[in-house]
This record gives sequence, C-alpha cells and structure tokens, in this order.
Amino acid sequence: MKIDLSFTHIPVTDDKLKNHLVAVVDVLRASSTICEALRNGAKEIIPLAEVSEAMELTGKLSRDNVLLCGEREGNIIPGYDLGNSPLEYSREMVQGKTLIFTSTNGSVAMTKAASAKSAIIVSFNNISAAVDYILRAGEDLTIICSGNNMQFAMEDAVCGGMMVNMLCQQSEDAVELNDGAQAAVILFQKFRSKYRQLLVRCFHGRYLKSLGYDQDLEFCSQVDNNNAIPVLKEGKIILNTE
Ligand code: MLT
Repeated sequence: MKIDLSFTHIPVTDDKLKNHLVAVVDVLRASSTICEALRNGAKEIIPLAEVSEAMELTGKLSRDNVLLCGEREGNIIPGYDLGNSPLEYSREMVQGKTLIFTSTNGSVAMTKAASAKSAIIVSFNNISAAVDYILRAGEDLTIICSGNNMQFAMEDAVCGGMMVNMLCQQSEDAVELNDGAQAAVILFQKFRSKYRQLLVRCFHGRYLKSLGYDQDLEFCSQVDNNNAIPVLKEGKIILNTE
C-alpha cells in the first residue's frame, strides 16, 4: 500500500487521485462536524466550496428537510441555519435532513476529493473506524490535510500522521510513505495522546478560542467517540453502511 500525505489540497491533482482512496482531514472543524452530523442521523451532506454555490443550490431545493450550514472566519454565515460547531449538529437538529455545507478550507478539500476513486472524511473523533475502512479497502491512499487558508495546519498534520502510524502498525502489506506522510508521523509522535493541548496550541485553535469556541476544541480532540465513516459519493457525503 502506498500512502501519500499532502499538507494542503493545493498540490493534489485529479490525475493523482483517480486510482486512490482519499481521506480528507479538517480536525478544526469541518471533518469533526460532518462526522457528528452523520452520527446524529443527517441524511446527506453536500459540500460546496463557495457561499454563492450553496445559496444557488438552496434556491433550487424545497427548504423542507434542507439546512444551509457552514462558516466564514469561523462564524455562522448570515442567514444560514447552522454554523460549523459540531455541538450544533444534534439529532434534534439534523436527523433526516440534507445539509448544504460550505466552509473556508474543509469543504474545498472535500470537493477536490470528488475526482478520487473513493473518498472518506476523517477526524480524531472517527479515526479508528476510518483506519479499519482503509485497511479493508486495501487501496493506495492519499491523505489530504485541509490546512488553513492554503497553509499548513498542525492539527490536520498530526491527525494525518496518527492515521499513517496506525496503518503502518496494522497493515499486513508493506507500506510505502511519501515524505509528507513520514513527516506527519514524526509530528504525531510529538503530540501523541496530547490532542487537547495540540488544539489549544495550534493557530486555528487559538483563533477559535478567541471567538469563544473553547468547547469545540475539547470535542474535536476526542479520539474515537464516533464510529461514523462519512463517504463521498457523487458529490454527496453519506454514512458508510458496508
Ligand atoms: C474550515 O473549513 O476552514 C473550518 O472547518 C473552519 C472552522 O470553522 O473552524
């Protein structure tokens, strides 16, 4: 199995992805939010890169059972139903609903993953379930860290490195890593079991704390509180049932 890890979505091309399984990571907070929404019974999530695209699609759909969700600069977009705090995505709020979702970095990486053979969404919350899925699929893997405004984001790199480390330990086949995957494992080893500390210390974590989202840092740092595996199929993210 080959594992490539990219610290942002920028260098990833459609051509590179077409024979790979892709894992998209945006610990703070899009991946964590999507995992939570599916765990709480959301029917499907449609990730879109731009606010204008989300508005256009919403205009074409009946608003029954559709929620418009996402953030810019960390806060709910004016006129939207939900922002990007996983704590907002309760069962009462999302069960049976279609979520149209746009975020600054995460949903952009997710739309890029649409050209892959298949794609899943990963956070600390569902990491063991995601690793099991990847091992069962037995395909070459590209991990796309969403990053922050096209820059490296430490929390995504550590989560990606944790995934690589688990795959190396559990795979029965030889695993070949690119330099990004090797570097991410080194970072993971530095923060192993200190995920709360990681999220408090990283740039985006400090920014979210300044906006008052301290509880999100706590929530997003939890490992394996969720078995949901969000899979991207034909532009929609749904719960894996296989
Ligand atoms: C993003 O996609 O950039 C985020 O998930 C930002 C956030 O809301 O924390």
